[in-house]
Amino acid sequence: MLAMNYRGPRRVRIDSKPYPEIKHPEDAIVRVTRSCICGSDLHLYNGNVPDTRVGSTFGHEFVGVVEEIGSDVEKLKVGDNVLVPFNIACGKCSFCQQGLYGNCHESNPQATAVGGIFGYSHTAGGFDGGQAEYVRVPYANFGPTVIPPGMDPDDAVLLTDVVPTGYQAAEMAGIQPGDTVVVFGAGPVGIMAARCSWLFGAGRVIVIDQVDYRLEFVRNYAPCEAYNFKGMDDPVVFIKKITDWIGADVCIDAVGAEAAGSALQTITGRKLLIQAGSATALHWAINSVRKGGVVSIVGVYGPTDNLVPIGNVVNKGITIRANQASVKRLLPRLIDHVQNGILNPKALITHRVPLEDVADAYNIFSNKLDNCIKPVLIPSTRS
Ligand SMILES: NC(=O)c1ccc[n+]([C@@H]2O[C@H](COP(=O)([O-])OP(=O)(O)OC[C@H]3O[C@@H](n4cnc5c(N)ncnc54)[C@H](O)[C@@H]3O)[C@@H](O)[C@H]2O)c1
Ligand SMILES: [Zn+2]
Ligand SMILES: [Zn+2]
Repeated sequence: MLAMNYRGPRRVRIDSKPYPEIKHPEDAIVRVTRSCICGSDLHLYNGNVPDTRVGSTFGHEFVGVVEEIGSDVEKLKVGDNVLVPFNIACGKCSFCQQGLYGNCHESNPQATAVGGIFGYSHTAGGFDGGQAEYVRVPYANFGPTVIPPGMDPDDAVLLTDVVPTGYQAAEMAGIQPGDTVVVFGAGPVGIMAARCSWLFGAGRVIVIDQVDYRLEFVRNYAPCEAYNFKGMDDPVVFIKKITDWIGADVCIDAVGAEAAGSALQTITGRKLLIQAGSATALHWAINSVRKGGVVSIVGVYGPTDNLVPIGNVVNKGITIRANQASVKRLLPRLIDHVQNGILNPKALITHRVPLEDVADAYNIFSNKLDNCIKPVLIPSTRS
């Protein structure tokens, strides 16, 4: 079958790989009909995530058709159209029981922090991902969710990650009615976080990025105020200034380890790799939230440490909430929101690229070419 193949930093290609096999009675094999490239994949692509092995296939956002099931799979049948949450979760361990499906204790033998994630290095379990024609899906009685009849697959594929992550960013922020929310990052996740902030009662939503076309998009889509930090002397002072010198009630980091904007952070975090990515947006979030405010982090940072102003967290009495999104927990509510027209995820999809051209898609998305917000890879496989 055809699959994306990682060859080292900023080198990916399409390759022929063996068809995946059922390895456990609760596995399923899914024929992928759509997969996305995520900002999280860029951390892998740029070589910032430890133990990203040459030869691995990325892709944790995909939908498809169940092709084969293991002998213990009861909740799915061959032919079902499914969306598959990016977290691999057993659904039974004590963390899954608490709804912490991003922190499953069973699905990732390599770590005690994050659970398994499709196509996300051996630090997240070493599973092959869905930027391929077929993918093995473990714990198939729990994760895969049958796509409701009539739902557009473009909406469904964004329910595997972007929508729940943006929503959870706003949820973790504990937004109170009338709050001023600042979202760092106008990628798909930041755009969705800005949109969802309104659902929690925000009074004002502000997005910060450095890419004008993305700022323009979020300004219309969320809708919200949106500013380019490249023109600012100091983004923290800018945010203080537009919030009566108090700061935002809530700041959301939807950037993570590839943040631009600070030479020190970029050199130590992205060039020398002596910290786990550049923590510039998180730094700005901590310093521009008001005293007693909340910083909600969904931007991904690799293991182990980052340079952040922890003293300011203490002295300002800031609450920090963070996690990988717990997709399965949020799906019922978010499927409803999509079906009722409250959320329109597919509007984020700007590029539809044949899987064969996966290298071009990474180039376009990572370099923010051609006004790209979210690319979808389409395998040409037919059943
Ligand atoms: N927690 C989760 O469950 C989860 C799920 C999906 C994605 N993520 C993470 O969310 C982050 C965003 O994902 P995405 O797909 O939107 O990525 P993306 O790369 O498309 O977007 C990131 C945006 O941040 C902007 N940016 C760079 N430096 C900035 C700064 N200092 N301040 C403000 N903006 C800045 C970039 O210009 C870009 O538009 C990534 O770190 C990704 O790994 C987390
Ligand atoms: Zn993702
Ligand atoms: Zn579990």
